[in-house]
Amino acid sequence: MSGNASAGADKAGQNGWGENVTVDINEGIAWITLNRPEKRNAVNPGIVYEMIAVLDALEDDPRAEVLVITGAGEAFSAGQDLKEYFRDMEKAPPMERERLYRSNAAWQWRRMMYYPKPTIAMVNGWCFGGAFQVLIGCDLAICSDDAEFGLSEINWGIIPAGIVTKSVSMVMSQRDAMYYIMTGETFKGERAKELGLVNKSVPASELRAETTKLANVLRNKNPHVLRGAKTAYHHVRNMSWDSALEYLMAKSDSTTMRDPERGAKIGMGQFLDDKTYKPGLEAYDRKR
Ligand code: ACO
Repeated sequence: MSGNASAGADKAGQNGWGENVTVDINEGIAWITLNRPEKRNAVNPGIVYEMIAVLDALEDDPRAEVLVITGAGEAFSAGQDLKEYFRDMEKAPPMERERLYRSNAAWQWRRMMYYPKPTIAMVNGWCFGGAFQVLIGCDLAICSDDAEFGLSEINWGIIPAGIVTKSVSMVMSQRDAMYYIMTGETFKGERAKELGLVNKSVPASELRAETTKLANVLRNKNPHVLRGAKTAYHHVRNMSWDSALEYLMAKSDSTTMRDPERGAKIGMGQFLDDKTYKPGLEAYDRKR
C-alpha cells in the first residue's frame, strides 16, 4: 500500500491485496476500490480475502483515518459473484465453501460494524444483492443520483441471504423492505436516500468531492470517541432500556478515561474557560 494517491495498490501476495481490491491513501482518507470492473465488481473469493487483509492492515495504519469503499468503473458492486462465489463453490470441498461464506460474513458484517475507524460507502453505480451488505455495513453512505440499486435475489430464485435480509430490516421500513425483497424492483439514488439506505444522493460529478467533504468532517472529530460512539450505537440497539442505560454510563466513562487526547477536558476548557469555540456548532480544536 502506498502513502500517496498515485502509487496505488500492492500486488496481491505481497500484502494480501491488489488483484481484486486496491487501496490509495491520500490526506487521511483510505480509498478502497473493489476492482473487477469487467465483472461489475461482483464479490468473488478474491475480494473476500483481500478485503479482510485490507481491513486488518488499515486498522492500525495512522495514515488511514477514514475508510471509503467504492467500485471501479460503472458499478459499486453487482453483488456476490454468481459463478465464483456460488456455482464454483458447489463443487468445492464443504470446508472451503464454509470458510468462504464465514469469511464473507465476517468482513461485510461484524468487522465493518465494529471497525475502529469510520467507514463510508461511496456508491458510484450498480448495487445489487450482496452489495447491500457492504453498503449497510459502512457507517455512512453517499451515492450518485444515477446509481441503481436492487435486491435482485428473487429474480433468480434465491432469498437475500448472507446477512442481507437482516441488514435491510435494520435500515428500511417493513413495507419498503418487503416490497423490494419480493419484487426485486430497481431504484435510483434519490429513492435510496428516501429509503434510508444512504445519507445523501448527489450528481455523479460531485460524488467524490461530497465524499471527501464528509470524510474530512469525520477526520476532524476525536477518533477514539468516534469509535466509542459507533460501537455503543450497535450494542444498544439490541438491549433493553434499562440495560442500555447501564451500558452507556459505563461505556461513556471508559471512553472518556481511555481517551489519549483527553478530549472532553480540552473541549470543556476551550468552551468554559477560553471561550474559543461552541460545542453545539463545531468540534473542539484538536491542535493537530
Ligand atoms: N456475478 C458474476 N458475474 C457477474 C455478476 C455477478 N453478480 N454481475 C455481472 N457479472 C459479469 C457478467 O457475467 C459479465 O461477464 P462476461 O463479460 O464474462 O460475460 C460482466 O460481468 C458484465 O456484465 P453485463 O451483464 O454484461 O454488464 P451490464 O453493464 O450490461 O449489466 C448488471 C450490469 C445489470 C449489473 C448485470 O451484470 C447484472 O444483472 N448482474 C447481476 C446482478 C445481480 O443480480 N446481483 C445479485 C447477485 S446475488 C447476491 O448477491 C446474493
